[in-house]
Amino acid sequence: MVESSHLRDTRSGYDAIALPYDATFRAELADSPLDRAMLAGFAELVTGRHPDGRLVEVGSGPGHVTAHLHGLGLEIRGVDLSPAMVELARREHPGITFDAGEMGALDASDGSLAGLVAWYSIIHVPPARLPAVFTEFHRVLVDGGLLLLGFQVGDDVLHFDEAFGHQVSLDFHRLEPATVTALLDEAGFEVIAQLVRAPAPASAATKIPQASLIARKRP
Ligand SMILES: C[S@@+](CC[C@H](N)C(=O)[O-])C[C@H]1O[C@@H](n2cnc3c(N)ncnc32)[C@H](O)[C@@H]1O
Repeated sequence: MVESSHLRDTRSGYDAIALPYDATFRAELADSPLDRAMLAGFAELVTGRHPDGRLVEVGSGPGHVTAHLHGLGLEIRGVDLSPAMVELARREHPGITFDAGEMGALDASDGSLAGLVAWYSIIHVPPARLPAVFTEFHRVLVDGGLLLLGFQVGDDVLHFDEAFGHQVSLDFHRLEPATVTALLDEAGFEVIAQLVRAPAPASAATKIPQASLIARKRP
């Protein structure tokens, strides 16, 4: 099967910038109590319902968020499109499993996961592909399983030809929470929590509102 150009571009872009991305964003969570609150609430909801459940973070990058959730007691692994990111995450978090993979075709059987996290990774999915990706998330989650999404708010796309001094071709699709909620509903999810916050003053990320959202797979 021929791979979509957005996957090739995203993979090679993050392969090129893995190290500076890690250095720039490794402390992001420390500066964002509201994001930590959503992550903590998500972790508690998952363990309350499936104490021994397994989870995956798709688009785990250098693994900061995977490691944070692991530290909250979750049995979580990471999956990322970029082999350089996977190698970096393995090196930085040797106690956690990280594998190369694509969020639209996960290496997980039907109903096998208690939770799935996509933290600032669906931003690289072209909007027309989002329904298929949410259907894949639905497939791998157990009934009642929980989904946590983080993304930038908007309805435009930011394109980078250059990042950290490297030539890349990376698209960042901003998303409206109402649009995401409607797509999740169509895929069989019920949104149970939503946070929209101002950008953290010290953050290196683009200065626009940031959303996180927790959804539950309807039986
Ligand atoms: C902005 S980074 C976020 C990394 C991490 N979640 C964090 O918050 O630091 C986006 C990550 O998603 C990965 N990614 C993008 N599209 C993907 C896809 N279709 N499947 C798996 N990973 C993907 C990229 O390689 C990159 O590491």
